Amino acid sequence: MLDPDEYEELIEMAKAAADNAYAPYSDYAVGAALLTDSGKIFTGCNIENASFGATLCAERTAAAKAVSEGETSFAAIAVYHNGPEMPFPCGICRQVLSEFSRHAAVIVANESGAEAFELSKLLPSSFGFKK
Ligand code: THU
Repeated sequence: MLDPDEYEELIEMAKAAADNAYAPYSDYAVGAALLTDSGKIFTGCNIENASFGATLCAERTAAAKAVSEGETSFAAIAVYHNGPEMPFPCGICRQVLSEFSRHAAVIVANESGAEAFELSKLLPSSFGFKK
């Protein structure tokens, strides 16, 4: 079991990132903070679009920022939503995160607490591409 208390700073950054969420359609603001194996942190928020399918989740916004800066090895990601349910990453985000780490910690947090999981537990038997 991973200890969410070890990720307090990451959770705070995810919470702050949720303030920038562009979510006029769902009113569901999400923030993410991604820690790379090299020790850098990239934040992200969900970015909705009038063409709903073009919406970006907070986790994938953070992942795109990290990879576009040359960081392709992820250690942990905190995801925050201020609501009654824990904001577990959607299936597409789990798949995208797994491209850049199987061992990453995924911390979900809301106003009443936090829980931490290993990504491989949230996405068992994931798809991988080998040439
Ligand atoms: N959302 C995320 O940001 N992350 C997830 O893992 C699931 C969903 C966003 C997308 C959309 O803007 C809103 O939450 C409602 O689905």
